[in-house]
Amino acid sequence: MDKFIIKGGNPLKGTIPISGSKNAALPLMAASLLGDSTSIIKNVPRLKDIYTFNNVIRVVGAQVDFKDDENTLTIDPSNVNHLEAPYDLVRKMRASFYMLGALVGKHGYAKVSLPGGCAWGPRPVDLHLKGMEAMGIDISLEKGYVIAKAEDKIEGGSFKLEPSSVGATVNLLLASVLKAKKFIIKNAAKEPDVVQLCNFLVKMGANIDGIGTDALTIKAVNNLSGIEVSNDPDRIELGTFMIAGAMFPGSELTLTGCNPEQLGNFPDKLRKTGTSVDINGTTINVKAPDVLKPVSIKTEIYPGFPTDLQAQWATMMTQAEGASKVTDTVYFDRFSYVPELVRLGADMDVEKNTVSISGKTPLTGASVMSTDLRASVSLVLAALVAENTSEVLRIYHLDRGYESLEEKLTAVGANIKRVEED
Ligand code: UD1
Repeated sequence: MDKFIIKGGNPLKGTIPISGSKNAALPLMAASLLGDSTSIIKNVPRLKDIYTFNNVIRVVGAQVDFKDDENTLTIDPSNVNHLEAPYDLVRKMRASFYMLGALVGKHGYAKVSLPGGCAWGPRPVDLHLKGMEAMGIDISLEKGYVIAKAEDKIEGGSFKLEPSSVGATVNLLLASVLKAKKFIIKNAAKEPDVVQLCNFLVKMGANIDGIGTDALTIKAVNNLSGIEVSNDPDRIELGTFMIAGAMFPGSELTLTGCNPEQLGNFPDKLRKTGTSVDINGTTINVKAPDVLKPVSIKTEIYPGFPTDLQAQWATMMTQAEGASKVTDTVYFDRFSYVPELVRLGADMDVEKNTVSISGKTPLTGASVMSTDLRASVSLVLAALVAENTSEVLRIYHLDRGYESLEEKLTAVGANIKRVEED
């Protein structure tokens, strides 16, 4: 296992290129299995989750070639013949559950392990399964596996997602585009990752109406062909670096290769802290204020404030002059980073799904432990502004979701080193 040694207290200055989005790439990879021919996806980040999902797709028989030096992924689905995703792989990454929709949608059968628990509380898949049943897919559970079966064409119907779920919307799209005569997903997720998937499927030949709205109507087509696309930039990585650029007086970061339209209300929230946020095409310039103002946020489904940025925001608020609150309405139990920040000197208190922060508190280097992907990057952000040296342990979480994090941060003046844990 690796850890980071970070010597904090330097302003960050320079340019960081934004990588392709992990969460947007995974649905495209699953969708490639629905085609009759090879798909090519460009701008795919070199991340552990991508390598894991490549292996999930290989297990079912697809040929996968990831030219990672070029961030280009080629998926040939013509030999898919083993319609099963085993626990060993699904437990490593919940998005492997997309194999359920992809396999039953194309081949009429899938056996996929139920995902295990998650470090930040319960993350059920009930809506994925109920939605498929509403579509006319036969679902049964056997020894920890979900078995899905469907006739050549099924009637469809409609299903309302309560709450709106990215994963369930993706799985229902994958299952329906070749199978359901007519299927309506109500209260569908509108996140950019879902919109990109819909556009990808339509380019393959699918019939989807209502893209970008919360009502998607799918009418099955007989076949889909492989295509070539470029994956969207990662809006969560972008938001994380925007926070990094805002947190420490004197910092100024230029972020390139961005899609600012996918940030929802995030830039406006950040400006309220006194941070200068200048958007120019696909480039964003962020300049830290001398005094950061406290701004409370509440996570919501897109285009609201993303849950995947709340830990980073709360970390930044430890450096704001005054009190603020961060409330997560999407996941109620996603605050495992708080005790670690308190160990660095933060004044924070969690009650139910809200963390109250009193700033500004100086942070002082210590050893802290990553517990999940976004928690881990928050500890890195905190260590970058802390006095002295910090150790961030268990950074394998970061390798799941941030491409070349230490290289990118070193290039803008951070003092961060990866070493093996003792
Ligand atoms: C995706 C993202 C994750 C992000 C989350 C919310 C990927 C790989 N992961 O996760 O980074 O934090 O969106 O933006 O893209 N729910 C149910 N039943 C279900 C499914 C979900 O009750 O069957 C609930 C969840 O508990 C949660 C809410 O719906 O409260 C939203 O979850 P969802 O959008 O499904 O998250 P994921 O797709 O798992």
